[in-house]
Amino acid sequence: MNKILSTREFFVDPEITRAESLPSSAFVDLEFLDLELGTIFAHTWLLAPQESNSQNSLAALTDSLGKTGSRVPFNLLGKPLFLQRGQHGKLSCFPNVCTHAWHPLVESSSIGGTIICPQHGRQFDNEGRFVAHAGFEKMEGFPKKSDNLRNVQVDEWGPWIFVSTGEPLAYFHEFVEKAQQSIPGIRLEALRRQRVDGEVREVDGNWKQHAWNYMDNFHIRFVHKGPGGLADAIDLSSYRTELYKFSALQWAYARDEENGFEHRLLADRFRDGKDNSKRVFALWWFIFPNTTLNFYPWGVSVNVYMPIPGKPDRTRFLWYQYALDEDKFRHRNSTWLNEQVDAEDIEAISLVSAGAKSGFAPRGRFAPNEETGPHWFHRLVYETVSSNSQTSTLTGV
Ligand code: FES
Ligand SMILES: [Fe+2]
Repeated sequence: MNKILSTREFFVDPEITRAESLPSSAFVDLEFLDLELGTIFAHTWLLAPQESNSQNSLAALTDSLGKTGSRVPFNLLGKPLFLQRGQHGKLSCFPNVCTHAWHPLVESSSIGGTIICPQHGRQFDNEGRFVAHAGFEKMEGFPKKSDNLRNVQVDEWGPWIFVSTGEPLAYFHEFVEKAQQSIPGIRLEALRRQRVDGEVREVDGNWKQHAWNYMDNFHIRFVHKGPGGLADAIDLSSYRTELYKFSALQWAYARDEENGFEHRLLADRFRDGKDNSKRVFALWWFIFPNTTLNFYPWGVSVNVYMPIPGKPDRTRFLWYQYALDEDKFRHRNSTWLNEQVDAEDIEAISLVSAGAKSGFAPRGRFAPNEETGPHWFHRLVYETVSSNSQTSTLTGV
């Protein structure tokens, strides 16, 4: 568990023509996953689950948080947390761990004033501050700051809540502002969650293999080939990959303009200056490290690649659908190939995962024009892991 990892082992060159991929060990070793959980996943914005984990409620997290005083427990990568709606609609997130002897404070979705710990009755207000605890009256140096609940960073965007369990690499808006700017005509409040089968699945492959595949357009003409594949539904020659600091966008025009976005929904830069009939098939947004927000004329498909602590070669694949246009939503599989593309990717990643574990997987290279997305992702993983690691688990070159 405490194997010393050297940055030399997984250095990814910023220059794509020189760069090698992360080594296969980064996709199969428990040590590397542990390192990622303590670095990448502790300092970035992760999508909170869409439902609370409490037994008595399957209500959507955001619906359960409508009123002042409402609170909802949930788990994120095994960490117990709860969300709390306070005065003036302010949303807070706290560890669901009492500061006395660590019992969970909120056991089910509820609404109320003071939070009272079920174990020995310690009380906290909606801001997570220690209020009172009978039996603790004649104490020295009590309460201390650590008797309050720690504030966990939280932010909301449309129907989504994002949480950073440690100090984030950057403010939330820096992760999503480019995506926000791309869809000025879409009201995220109008999105309606639609329950579908297979929303939460455990699938083959390390979480990075899913993200790598997502950032890879090179495979579209092979894995999603025609007839009837994504390669037919889009104009592949128009495919663009835009790389930003913590997010990336891929998009292409629809082969059939009927299947594209109305111009008014997207930023003007997506119009073709020469041919006004061209319409964007989809905006595929990747938010580092593991959330994808896929905007289609029918709505949004949100996919999250959650690592599973202790299982580096498996991923909890979250798959949530939101309708913007109910009619088009019904055609999301026939016209926009939503399930088909997903199934093709999951199958391919399962095979790649077996390759990574085979002992025969050398470090690969990146095609300079075709694989800017995968290279960007590998480099960002390397940078984030190496700049946030402690020397006890990581040594420099
Ligand atoms: S664990 Fe909460 S009051 Fe003791
Ligand atoms: Fe794909």
